[in-house]
Amino acid sequence: MFPENGKIWSNGRIIPWQEAQVHVMTHGLHYGSGIFEGIRAYASDHGPMIFRLDDHLHRFFDSAKVYRFKMPYSFDELKAGVLEVIRQNGFKDCYIRPIAFVGYSRLGVYPDRENIEVHIGVWPWGAYLGAESLEKGVRVTITSWKKFHSQMFPVMAKATGQYLNSMLAVMDAKDRGFDEALLLNEHGDLAEGSGENIFLVKDGKIYTNPINASILAGITRDTILKVASDLGYEVHIGALTVGQILTADEAFFTGTAVEVTPIREVDLRPVGDGQNYPITRHLQKTYFKIVKGKEPHYKHWLTPVY
Ligand SMILES: Cc1ncc(COP(=O)(O)O)c(C=O)c1O
Repeated sequence: MFPENGKIWSNGRIIPWQEAQVHVMTHGLHYGSGIFEGIRAYASDHGPMIFRLDDHLHRFFDSAKVYRFKMPYSFDELKAGVLEVIRQNGFKDCYIRPIAFVGYSRLGVYPDRENIEVHIGVWPWGAYLGAESLEKGVRVTITSWKKFHSQMFPVMAKATGQYLNSMLAVMDAKDRGFDEALLLNEHGDLAEGSGENIFLVKDGKIYTNPINASILAGITRDTILKVASDLGYEVHIGALTVGQILTADEAFFTGTAVEVTPIREVDLRPVGDGQNYPITRHLQKTYFKIVKGKEPHYKHWLTPVY
């Protein structure tokens, strides 16, 4: 999966993929003191285009701000780094993973926030939940692990350590034969998947939960909210209950990795008729047109690599 012979942007320099290494006593490895982003570039008629790059980098810097990291590179330097590392690898489409973490200096929990390493890895990555997931939809389970709430961790930050919560959830799901986990929040309402936001469809209307439902403020979620309204759908943002997903006509995940993925089943119960997702399909098709540069109205969301 990884471009072993490719290149990576590492602390301001492009180096061979194999040479990007850290010491085992690195703070970020011991305590999860890191922040990251997940971004995608798509092939288009005008070469690779990165979807909502500025928005992802703004969230990256916001995550750094929450954890009070002194970022050694500016927004513009990282943006240039993303473009350069894709060019040097020659990818037409790829996943982009910027990460910043507390480096190797001392190992008390109190971090050396002046010692931040930044790397940007890029590699081709297909459908996150498997080749058939976009077409057939995925089977999810409501896990007993709860999503942490904002008094435990800043939910708007995309921090590496916070993903142990997601990891427990997805392991629980996969070990029991499901494709993905759905986590409830501290109120017992739906929060999100281990790496995705959730939407429901009922009677032709679209529903998703608010930022204060202990969710990451997904950029794909924001995209779908805008696109769905532009397409004329009625969109509601409010708490979502388990009962609502069990009685929904359609449900789907959104995220950079999963894009727009239908949810076919929740705990062995079909969502809707378990087969047809006309509104999800409409949004999914539109999303793919947008990211591939085939919808002029949304071109401002695309950054050309060349
Ligand atoms: C926990 C979680 N929720 C939601 C998302 C979706 O966010 P985005 O659409 O910005 O990729 C992600 C992916 O980054 C995630 O990890």
